[in-house]
Amino acid sequence: MESQTAPGLHVAIIMDGNGRWANQRGLPRLAGHRVGVEAVRHTVEAAPGLGIKVLTLYAFSADNWRRPPREVSALMRLLGHYLTQETDRCIATGVQLEAIGRRDRLPASVVRMIEDAERHTIGGGKLRLRLAIDYSARHAIVEAASRAQGQGAEAWSKLLGPDVDLLIRTSGEQRLSDFLLWESAYAEIVFTSRMWPEFSARDLADAVAEFHRRDRRFGAIAGSNSRRTA
Ligand code: FPP
Repeated sequence: MESQTAPGLHVAIIMDGNGRWANQRGLPRLAGHRVGVEAVRHTVEAAPGLGIKVLTLYAFSADNWRRPPREVSALMRLLGHYLTQETDRCIATGVQLEAIGRRDRLPASVVRMIEDAERHTIGGGKLRLRLAIDYSARHAIVEAASRAQGQGAEAWSKLLGPDVDLLIRTSGEQRLSDFLLWESAYAEIVFTSRMWPEFSARDLADAVAEFHRRDRRFGAIAGSNSRRTA
């Protein structure tokens, strides 16, 4: 099977550290999430210029429902605002927006905003922006398993999404936290101590430069044509 890597890089980011960034400044956690949205904008803007074709952002994990209801509502509001406010900019800049994750537990208004944003930005060819909302990789894998019965790895990759080339996690934490577990089988991982609200286009460029310095062998040996086939 040919790798599902899209032409251009697939970069996935675990955006972490909003709460700590805010706490360090004596601000409410929500302030960290708000500034985090700005970091999302900078990242999306910078991505195409760095050769990124697919960008997947971990916006709300299935485990995040365990946060206090006020924080959950605030995050849903921020996501809703982002989806509605950014749609025009996405259309203008060729960004195709989509959400991955469960929709059956989201507020109906958020589902509507996701569907509208997806419909209006379809065909954007510069960047495929995937927001992981109520996302759990284990859940996605179990769902794919029920639909891909008897089929090979290619069918699984089609159901789950393209292979991740570079996975970034901010805030100094070094965990995968149930994010894109199948798709990251061969991902290069960059952990940075930068808190997400401070993550800049420069940080993204540094991570991509680090990715290009890595020798991806996919189990082959250095110098051979090691592009993955399975
Ligand atoms: C992790 O920081 C971040 C989140 C759980 C949510 C990420 C959400 C945003 C950046 C805003 C909305 C997103 C989009 C795409 C518009 P944390 O709260 O876990 O920080 P902590 O580990 O320091 O507590």
